[in-house]
This record gives sequence, C-alpha cells and structure tokens, in this order.
Amino acid sequence: MAHPYWPLFDLRLTVDELELRPMTEADQLPLAGLLPEDLELDPDATRYPGLSEAVNRRVIGFQHYWKSYGSWRPERWRLPFCVRAGGELVGVQELEAGDFAALRTVYSSSYLIGSARGRGIGRQMRRAVLALAFGPLAAEAAVSSAWQDNHASLAVSRALGYLPNGESRHRRDDRVDTMLYRRLSRSDWLAGDRGAGVHVAGVEACLPYFGLEGD
Ligand SMILES: CC(C)(COP(=O)(O)OP(=O)(O)OC[C@H]1O[C@@H](n2cnc3c(N)ncnc32)[C@H](O)[C@@H]1OP(=O)(O)O)[C@@H](O)C(=O)NCCC(=O)NCCS
Repeated sequence: MAHPYWPLFDLRLTVDELELRPMTEADQLPLAGLLPEDLELDPDATRYPGLSEAVNRRVIGFQHYWKSYGSWRPERWRLPFCVRAGGELVGVQELEAGDFAALRTVYSSSYLIGSARGRGIGRQMRRAVLALAFGPLAAEAAVSSAWQDNHASLAVSRALGYLPNGESRHRRDDRVDTMLYRRLSRSDWLAGDRGAGVHVAGVEACLPYFGLEGD
C-alpha cells in the first residue's frame, strides 16, 4: 500500500539489475554492518567520547539518516537511496538540493561496499538519480565534488559528461587538500541521452515535497 503521508518511500528508480529505493529505518542496521572503513564521514559530525571510532561512525550514519527526513523542507532536501544489485544491498546514493525551486541545482554523494566497486554500478546509480533530477524534477544542473585523489568518483562524473567547475582547498585530517568540482548542465545531459534505460516510478505524489507543483 502506498504511504499516505510520505510518498517518497514509494519512489523507485531502476536501471538494469539495480534498484534504488529511498532509505527507511529498517535499512539502518544492515547499512551499519556494511559501512566501508574507507568512507570519509563529515568531520564535524557528532562523536561521543565514550564510544569507539567504529561505533561512532555507525552512529553518524543513523543520525545522518534521521536528519535527512527530519529536516526535509521543499527549499532544502536530501534524499538517500539504498542501492540493491540483483536484490543485494550494495550501497547508498544520495541526491540533495538547496533552494531547489529557484536554483534547480542538485548535488550527489554515494558509496558502495568494496566488493561492488569497479563494476560500473557507481556510474549506473549516479545516472539513476540524475534521470530523476533532470526528468520529473526538471533540474538545470548537477554538481559533484570529490577530493583530487578520488579517481573513481571523478571518473564517474567524467563518464557522465560533467565538466570541471573549479576547486577549493580544505582541511583534511591533519593536512590541506584540494576538492575538485564538476558540473553537468541540463543541455549536456539531454544531448547525451544519458537517462536511457532508467525507469522512475512513483514521483508524481512526491512533487509537492520538492516544492514543485503536482497535478
Ligand atoms: C565512487 C564509487 C561510488 C564509484 O563507483 P564504482 O562502481 O566503483 O565505479 P564504476 O565501476 O561505475 O566506474 C566508473 C568509472 O570510474 C573508473 N574507476 C572506478 N574505480 C576506479 C579507481 N579506483 N581508480 C580509477 N578509476 C576508477 C572506472 O574505470 C570507470 O571509468 P570509465 O567510465 O572511464 O571506464 C565507489 O568507488 C565508492 O564507493 N568509493 C568509495 C566512496 C566514495 O569515495 N564516494 C564518493 C565520495 S565523493
């Protein structure tokens, strides 16, 4: 049965053997068990001094999830998807925006468990959320950022037609490093027919939650 108040839970993105479903509370424990050790988390996230780093990392995941829906506004939202390949939970793909109705710009972030990397899944799951963004959400641009040494993330952006869009320097652990920005315009997305084969279902009821007109 469709959710009467939070239709985002019924959104489905599918491409090839991948299915992306908005994350639910029931996904949190399985995700905590799969959290990759090499995934860099927000250094400003709450850490509890009495807990081990391993437990703190998983608590950050829970709080990040609760914040996504708990602070959702049409003007500022973050939609976390669980990614399943052939039914197996393999990672997370997020799509977010601020002042979306005016700026029409989306940001993405993602991770895969180690055994699922390097098989084209990262590119497919980014393509899936871009098809949602440039399709029914009518985005004008998508932006991605990655550390200069994150070759896989940068390669996904390059493969999907993103272009260089500046860089900035930030603290990273105990050093300073360079963050690279990439941007994909709506016209480049449409020209490349890059949404081919992605199926988006259940979005109509969600449009008011994105600040967009429904029927
Ligand atoms: C980033 C990530 C989601 C990419 O997913 P993936 O499934 O591994 O990537 P794909 O297999 O779809 O590969 C996409 C492109 O990246 C390239 N690539 C993948 N891993 C690579 C690596 N380690 N080094 C260099 N290039 C790499 C592929 O060759 C491919 O390029 P091509 O299209 O030119 O052939 C995944 O590697 C990951 O979870 N990394 C850790 C978390 C992370 O860094 N997230 C992003 C934060 S900004």
